[in-house]
Amino acid sequence: MSTAGQKTWMRGLLFCCSLVLVTRPVFAEVHGGGVAACNYCHDMHGQSLVGSGDGLLLEESASDVCLACHAETYGAVLGTDPLAPPPERGAGNFVFLWEDNLNDGADGVLNPISGDAAGHNIDAPGHGLSADGSYLNSPGGSFPSGQLGCTSCHDPHGNTSYRFLRGPDQPVDGAVFLYPAYEAAGIPFDGSSERPDNHIAYQAGVSNWCGNCHGDYLNDHNETGGFEHPTDETLPSGFATRYNRYNGTADSFGGDASTAYLPEVPFQDPSTTVSGTAGPSTSSRVMCLSCHRAHATSGPHAGRWDFNVDTLGQDGVVSGSYPLPNPYPDPNQDPLCRKCHSGMMGG
Ligand code: HEC
Ligand code: HEC
Ligand code: HEC
Ligand code: HEC
Ligand code: HEC
Ligand code: HEC
Repeated sequence: MSTAGQKTWMRGLLFCCSLVLVTRPVFAEVHGGGVAACNYCHDMHGQSLVGSGDGLLLEESASDVCLACHAETYGAVLGTDPLAPPPERGAGNFVFLWEDNLNDGADGVLNPISGDAAGHNIDAPGHGLSADGSYLNSPGGSFPSGQLGCTSCHDPHGNTSYRFLRGPDQPVDGAVFLYPAYEAAGIPFDGSSERPDNHIAYQAGVSNWCGNCHGDYLNDHNETGGFEHPTDETLPSGFATRYNRYNGTADSFGGDASTAYLPEVPFQDPSTTVSGTAGPSTSSRVMCLSCHRAHATSGPHAGRWDFNVDTLGQDGVVSGSYPLPNPYPDPNQDPLCRKCHSGMMGG
């Protein structure tokens, strides 16, 4: 939970930014909108607001520039209250970085896991966010945590890639990207939030893109003795079949392939669509975003479900953090590894 003081401070800050923003024109064509759009983010003299110590300028960092519009609108990637996050659009939410404890395991009270571990920490001092305290660099790679911000992953000037993700043709401070932006279809910011018939459709190249900064994880997740798992592998037929039949702990084999898709446990497949509800085939892949979200979640390590609980009903109980939505109406639901591993791993 964040402290009341912090929230009040945040609201004050956001109110102050939005006051300035409403004096600007309607935000059509902000990204890649040509010269007229430059002064949404740069001042009139072509000077960047970024990194400026000038008291007349609002934003303290590149990420603060982005959050001026995206904190509470256009995807609302930050919001204001970690217990009431904005609607899910796919990437999870940075609001959980403000949590003081994410640990819902049995040891959760004695061993709190700070919000730092909710996912990617962003250098955005104007919004109360700062660099990660536990990793000096991206695990499995060498991207400096102190430089991580919105523009490490997204091109501020827009490009033709999904969500303006960066690729090798877009140099970024701190990294040489080897792999291109992944292919996917996103859901709009103004429609319904994520649900089985309205979700990100991951089509190609997800794990490699994450591997731009986490290269070693492409090799069975972690060469150095951590959690071992394939990270870019087609599903053997037993796995596809299990995913398709699985309909929760209470109905592990009664599901139907045509309605098996779970946005909480997505797979990558060139044929998936935003509204598609069908489960995987043997050409579908398990990839990083089958288990993680790209921004942050209220579970440790940006888990799509809490990796520390025995049943989803335990999520949020010990730590007081936001319980990630359980796709099945059953507090005794097993962790969602079961979607692919039902009947295995000890039952
Ligand atoms: C949506 C916000 C936004 C808009 C609109 C925008 N910029 Fe930028 N621009 C940025 C940010 C943020 C950076 C710093 C990037 C970083 O630190 O990684 C930047 C950096 C730059 C740089 C430094 C080199 C680089 O690419 O990093 C130049 C030059 C630049 N912008 C020119 C422009 C021009 C010209 C326009 C209008 C055609 C424009 N920008 C519109 C946000 C924007
Ligand atoms: C002045 C307001 C404003 C600012 C500042 C701004 N954005 Fe946006 N952004 C928008 C709007 C409006 C859209 C939706 C329309 C569009 O795609 O241009 C958008 C769309 C996006 C999208 C989704 C693109 C898609 O089509 O899926 C991403 C990603 C994004 N912005 C990232 C950023 C980043 C990173 C920054 C900071 C460098 C930033 N934005 C700064 C207004 C803004
Ligand atoms: C531009 C570099 C970059 C890219 C691209 C990137 N990451 Fe990271 N990631 C980092 C850095 C730096 C850290 C360590 C600092 C932190 O946790 O904020 C990190 C940390 C993480 C963590 C640990 C978070 C925690 O605190 O326990 C996970 C999980 C993660 N990344 C997953 C991913 C996934 C999945 C993708 C692809 C969708 C991805 N990353 C893409 C730079 C990157
Ligand atoms: C480590 C890389 C990374 C960083 C850092 C990052 N993003 Fe993203 N962002 C992504 C990816 C990947 C997606 C697409 C998520 C998906 O496909 O599930 C995304 C999605 C989005 C979206 C679409 C809405 C949504 O919730 O999915 C917006 C808007 C956005 N990012 C803005 C931002 C802003 C603003 C920041 C900084 C505060 C930021 N991103 C920092 C990788 C990143
Ligand atoms: C099958 C699910 C799954 C997939 C696929 C997966 N992860 Fe993980 N990841 C986890 C779990 C579970 C943990 C927590 C491990 C622990 O606590 O020891 C984790 C932890 C992490 C961490 C935190 C540091 C660590 O090793 O504990 C990073 C970074 C990370 N994953 C990155 C990635 C990247 C990058 C990919 C894709 C190349 C990926 N993961 C694919 C489940 C997955
Ligand atoms: C999207 C489907 C999917 C999800 C979700 C998933 N797995 Fe897997 N898992 C696989 C596939 C595919 C394999 C490889 C099977 C093979 O090659 O025979 C695998 C293999 C494994 C293995 C054997 C690893 C090895 O290297 O020998 C373990 C253990 C495992 N998974 C545990 C987990 C756990 C724990 C979770 C949840 C954190 C999880 N899985 C989530 C698909 C999945």
